[in-house]
Amino acid sequence: MTRPPTELWEDGTGVESAPAGWTVEDTRELYRVREWSAGYFDVSPEGAMVVRPRADHGGPALSLPRIVEGLRKRGISMPVLLRFPEILNHQIGSLHREFAAAIAEYGYRGEYRGVYPIKVNQQEQVLEEVTSYGAEFRHGLEAGSKAELIAAMAYLKNPDDLLICNGYKDERFIELGLYARRIGIDCVFVVETPLEVDLILRTSTRLGIRPRVGFRVRLSSCGSGHWQDSGGDRSVFGLNTAQLMDSVDRFRAAGYLDCLNLLHFHLGSQIPNIRDIRTSLTEACRVYAGLVEEGVPMSLLDIGGGLAIDYEGAQSASSGSRNYSIREYCRDVVEVLKGEFDRAGVEPPVLISESGRATVAYYSVLLVEVLDVNRFHSGCQPAEVGPESHYLLRHSLAVSAELGPDNLQECYNDAFYYRDEIRSLFQAGALSLRERSLGERIFWQNLGRIWEHCRELDEVPESLRGLESFLADIYYGNFSLFQSLPDAWAIDQVFPVAPIDRLQEEPTRRAVLSDITCDCDGRLDRFGERGRVRRTLAVHEMRPGEPYLLGVFLVGAYQETLGDLHNLLGDTHVVSIRVGDDGDFAVEREIEGDSVADVLSVVEYDPKQVSARFRASVERAVRKGEIDAQERRAMVRAYEDTLRGYTYFET
Ligand SMILES: Cc1ncc(COP(=O)(O)O)c(C=O)c1O
Repeated sequence: MTRPPTELWEDGTGVESAPAGWTVEDTRELYRVREWSAGYFDVSPEGAMVVRPRADHGGPALSLPRIVEGLRKRGISMPVLLRFPEILNHQIGSLHREFAAAIAEYGYRGEYRGVYPIKVNQQEQVLEEVTSYGAEFRHGLEAGSKAELIAAMAYLKNPDDLLICNGYKDERFIELGLYARRIGIDCVFVVETPLEVDLILRTSTRLGIRPRVGFRVRLSSCGSGHWQDSGGDRSVFGLNTAQLMDSVDRFRAAGYLDCLNLLHFHLGSQIPNIRDIRTSLTEACRVYAGLVEEGVPMSLLDIGGGLAIDYEGAQSASSGSRNYSIREYCRDVVEVLKGEFDRAGVEPPVLISESGRATVAYYSVLLVEVLDVNRFHSGCQPAEVGPESHYLLRHSLAVSAELGPDNLQECYNDAFYYRDEIRSLFQAGALSLRERSLGERIFWQNLGRIWEHCRELDEVPESLRGLESFLADIYYGNFSLFQSLPDAWAIDQVFPVAPIDRLQEEPTRRAVLSDITCDCDGRLDRFGERGRVRRTLAVHEMRPGEPYLLGVFLVGAYQETLGDLHNLLGDTHVVSIRVGDDGDFAVEREIEGDSVADVLSVVEYDPKQVSARFRASVERAVRKGEIDAQERRAMVRAYEDTLRGYTYFET
């Protein structure tokens, strides 16, 4: 058995001893499957990643390799975004069950109402499923734009469904929201800026419809994490307390005080530390109680989103993690509300939350096939030089012969020195291309050997810590980071990534995952491992002729619509999978990914015209005698097939 890789974390510290024999339990621990998956994914004893749509509540488990096999038989190629509607259903249920349990436990007298913020994943299927599964719990929607409002008005199913309208609103938006009230939707406008006050008053008076209104307040407490600027004094959204009081006075003066019912705040998405949530809740309760004291007929407290996901599997307060569970979140929220409103002697409001990420993140998995591998230090034959070779090559090769634990840094410096000297001489015309290439081979060999020595150390010297990533393989995946995982590019978000098969085997290689865009930013090089962030991913050695697939998990929130067409790689196929009790599956819905013609149309080409231009070019070549009619036919067919085909590699 090969020696397990030594751990080197993003912070460069720590070495962990490896277990004696590799088991699937080691795989679970390595990729932290239990910690990030909330019970929806696990490793089977046979070493396959499995999905369990009812999480830990029993029910069937289905292996992802089996799904891939079934999709391939149906002619559906990778990359594919899998959606598991049962997970979505289960997550909505969990949120309601946990809040109901907390409300019962603390004897809170208000009820809980959830709303789904459409912005988190606007796809039609998601809205349809959220409103269907949510109907049992009267789960409403949150809209932040006219387009989202239009979708919400069409999809809400029950009378009195809650529709929270955040975001900046023009007169049209307000008009539509007021009409929604007339058809029985409980639409609430959340005032985001003082400018909206007049607009709401004017439009409501013009249409003769009483609005229901809330205020978004800027709290002084703010969370930590990527989205911390969504809250706090300098947040671009919401009213400070002076603007809040002024707005109350304007509603009162206009005879609309009775319409003011809701207080809203949103700390930001992905709040990793539960203490920040408690602190801001306390402040919001104080503001709510203050409004009641002012005679405002308040009845709803909307605590926004922020319920985090443990992408890193670290169970910590780091930005890609969280130091609490959904249960703890619900209990803490209700406990604070109960305590604060009891103390203030205020009638407890209906509690609304706008959890988006926690509702949909688990629901989607991106499956990526590895197309190729680029190896650096161990990918080539050991370098050899003879006595006639240039002295720089001979000296460079001698570097690793002298290597020992005490001179790692010196050898590292020498390896770079000789590489650079060889490059300079090549540039000056004093070394041949073949000599330069031998020099490069020796360089990689030296670094590989230095790194092997580093792995024996308890603490890797700081200047050598980057070696692991420098030497890592590049695994080329058939996907576009910009299309499918935009947050990994834009805000360095870590997503759980793991092979979906061979998980009973120890992954002995370290790699970064590159996509197929021609962009050096198109790569994943931050991964959660053993609860920390590491620059490379543990992967298996590829076997010739055997497909190797990686799953990127928890991609249901924010990724789909934020993705773009970099290099004109389009939407992937989307397949909705229902897992049967017999352990088999059914494809419930299939949305074909973009074709080349589709993406060209988005950037203003007319595929018919494009094709006509090409036909004209090949016809000219026939006329000039450069190709014959048969070749023309083959070329036109290849062109047209590609135009109709998938934008990703087709194997
Ligand atoms: C006003 C509002 N509500 C809810 C959400 C959803 O937050 P999350 O996905 O963290 O639940 C957001 C997103 O940032 C938001 O801006």
